[in-house]
Amino acid sequence: MFRVGFLGCGGIANAHARVLSELGKRVQLAAFCDLEEERARRFNQTYADGKGKVYINLHRMLNKEKLDVLYICLPPFAHADEVELAAERGVHIFIEKPVALDMETAGRMVEAVERTGVKSQVGFQSRFGDAVREVKRMLDSGEAGRPGLVEARYFCNSLHSPWWRDKSKSGGQVVEQVIHTFDILRYFLGEPEAVFSFRDNLFHRDVPDYTVEDVSATVVRFKNGAVATVAATNGAIPGKWISDYKLVTERITVYFESPNQATVYHTGVPHGWVTSISSERPLQKAAAEDLLDAIEDDRETLVPIQEGARSLELVLAVARSGEQGTIVHFKGGFTSV
Ligand SMILES: NC(=O)c1ccc[n+]([C@@H]2O[C@H](COP(=O)([O-])OP(=O)(O)OC[C@H]3O[C@@H](n4cnc5c(N)ncnc54)[C@H](O)[C@@H]3O)[C@@H](O)[C@H]2O)c1
Repeated sequence: MFRVGFLGCGGIANAHARVLSELGKRVQLAAFCDLEEERARRFNQTYADGKGKVYINLHRMLNKEKLDVLYICLPPFAHADEVELAAERGVHIFIEKPVALDMETAGRMVEAVERTGVKSQVGFQSRFGDAVREVKRMLDSGEAGRPGLVEARYFCNSLHSPWWRDKSKSGGQVVEQVIHTFDILRYFLGEPEAVFSFRDNLFHRDVPDYTVEDVSATVVRFKNGAVATVAATNGAIPGKWISDYKLVTERITVYFESPNQATVYHTGVPHGWVTSISSERPLQKAAAEDLLDAIEDDRETLVPIQEGARSLELVLAVARSGEQGTIVHFKGGFTSV
């Protein structure tokens, strides 16, 4: 049985705690830590029948509890040395994206995980979708041929939480949210070579303390020659989150509606045919099982912390380009930006 602790008992932590509590005897939700004690207490009641322990200090929780896994569900600005503290005690790590707001912090996390050998997983659950998995298989096996282009959009319209609207705390829409899309770009197309981005706040100038961008358009060139465009806004249809993308390779064109739903046009044959992928795979559950299996089997997870750092590097470069109006080039290695 895995003894799991939570650091941060807010919105997304609920989703993870619910999924873990559905895994039955495999998992014991043992301890909950939040700066706001009441939140940790509520989690303990909801997910552990009040039998877990409640903390407001991570050091104390790690010193008192023998945990196997720590679920880190902090807002972007709150990341500090929690990965190092857990890793040094041999505690495996799940961490929500973005793993930090700067590459120095992310680099320290990677270093601690590599030094101690704990398993890590970042909250890029889209990678677990059946459509994403099948297309990734086609790319890796060579069946899809050379990848050339992705066109992606991320549309929503919500005020989100106060920390989300504050660029210094969330990093902005691209860093906090559209990082899911940029992570899929890297998953399909490999490492980036250069990015250019425009961004502005056009719709929320009168909203107090709203400092993040609400429109952005980004072009990425990858080291293998592939290119991608990503259009993002927080001014689209209220209450609707639309995140979709199209991939063009030498032999297939894929229209993704979601990580589980896609139409595949087989273009590399004389009389091309069309297949569709449609599944209901529960992404967070698949991710949780991947992490626990990886610990048991002593193998890497599908999204180790190095991937979180590299996708962070990409979105930080997009943000920098958008703010400076210049092309940002990657020198290679996730400490170069
Ligand atoms: N993977 C996904 O699809 C997905 C979805 C939503 C959110 N997220 C990510 O999850 C993270 C958390 O987002 P959220 O919406 O749950 O935020 P939230 O504000 O709802 O919850 C964050 C919690 O952390 C607590 N907290 C803040 N600083 C702390 C500290 N130093 N020590 C202990 N507790 C602290 C807060 O009191 C709060 O309870 C963000 O990075 C966000 O990007 C990921």
